[in-house]
Amino acid sequence: MQQALEWLSKHHEEIVHGLAELVAIQSISTDGEHNPEIDRTAKLTCDQMRQAGLHNVDTLRVGQSLPYAYGEWLEAPGKPTVFLYAHHDVQPVNFVEQWQSDPWKLTRRDGRLFGRGSADDKGAIAAQIGAIAAYRKTHNTLPVNIKMLVEGEEEVGSKNLLKFFETHRERLKSDVIVVCDTENIEIGIPSITYSLRGIVAVQVDVTTAKTPVHSGMAGGALPDAAIALNTILGRLYWDNDPLPIPGFYEQVRPLSDKERAAFRKLPFDGEKLQKEIGMASTARFATEKGYTSYEQTWRRPAVTVIAQEASSIKGASNQVLPKASAIVSCRIVPDQKPEHVLEKLTAFLKNDPPWGCEVTVTPHGPPVDWWMTDPNGPAFEAALSAMRGGFERDPVAIGCGGSIGFVGPLSELFGGAPALLMGIEDPASNAHAPNESLHEGDFKKLMAALVRLFDNLGKLTPARVK
Ligand code: BES
Ligand code: MN
Repeated sequence: MQQALEWLSKHHEEIVHGLAELVAIQSISTDGEHNPEIDRTAKLTCDQMRQAGLHNVDTLRVGQSLPYAYGEWLEAPGKPTVFLYAHHDVQPVNFVEQWQSDPWKLTRRDGRLFGRGSADDKGAIAAQIGAIAAYRKTHNTLPVNIKMLVEGEEEVGSKNLLKFFETHRERLKSDVIVVCDTENIEIGIPSITYSLRGIVAVQVDVTTAKTPVHSGMAGGALPDAAIALNTILGRLYWDNDPLPIPGFYEQVRPLSDKERAAFRKLPFDGEKLQKEIGMASTARFATEKGYTSYEQTWRRPAVTVIAQEASSIKGASNQVLPKASAIVSCRIVPDQKPEHVLEKLTAFLKNDPPWGCEVTVTPHGPPVDWWMTDPNGPAFEAALSAMRGGFERDPVAIGCGGSIGFVGPLSELFGGAPALLMGIEDPASNAHAPNESLHEGDFKKLMAALVRLFDNLGKLTPARVK
């Protein structure tokens, strides 16, 4: 193992170069316009897997899915099989003028590597491949069997995952899952994530007429679609209370005293967060009374209006607008069922429409379930000790307010295999936002932790991992 760790230090620039090659490709999945680029990152990931010493490397597809990159190394009979997951698709670059360097050129600045996808989640591909190569190039072998899957449609809800499982079930079968697509709570503090929120979203369309009408003629008489929509959305305002949607919390699992106590020991600096995101100085946090920020974002449901359209400001004219639309997205938590949330939200949005106008509510995107596990047992111990070794700091167990479609269904597919979510991002990473970056020090530590994890898991038998 020591030689593998030394290999990582010696070959760090090569690893960063591999990441730069991935970042250079605009593999945006959210707009449907970059499928050729997603093909290219899938192919490049395959090339990098081959170079690292994985076998049977290929891109896989099911139906209309975007390509997955897959590779394996199965020459450790009797040892556990470790499933490594990451994704090669990225978010778009909106607010391009706010980027301080080219989003598609990995740029080193202040100890960080800047670029779209550097942290979310191409850094994870580089880290996992780096750890595999470190072992294969120094020992020619690995202490465990490896199956590595890199998805191309995570940022659009992993919509083909069930079909993917149906087609490739036997090939995927593993004993333990390792995902690097979540956060470390602070730079330098290794964090293992044991819960994810899910997501369900709807599009709301309000129609009041067939066509816009001169506001000088009809203003005051015709129902205004934009005002009707915003009246409906305004009803969601929660101040610092629970969301005012009847029945919405029926299935929410209360936090245990033990979890609360553990969360309250974690570092948190509200003022720092406020500064980092440049939150308006007159505004206060929207957190519910009685909950801390972590409790709120990890374990309470949330509603966000992620888009709204009525008419653009540029070219606005004096008319009553006949149609207005919004997308309302909900983060859901244990034990909320997506269908239940959809039903309650839809009823709320359709109830008592202003001026009796027509409101339609249709599901937007695939629902993604929440996920939560008990972070105890041999696999978690192996991960915690690996992280302690790699980061030279005690690891913490945290939740995550985001969603990763693959985690829950994959663990279920393997009969409840443990899923180890080891952090790659940090609070300054700005994933999905301008100036996304990866902390280079933590990137190195994560790779060292992965090498140690392979080693620790290699000391267990497949039956003892669970
Ligand atoms: N890496 C994120 C998940 C995440 C979010 C980790 C916040 C840590 C903090 C992941 O790539 C992501 O953004 N997922 C989407 C999934 C959705 C499209 C189903 C999300 O959470 O919006
Ligand atoms: Mn991600």
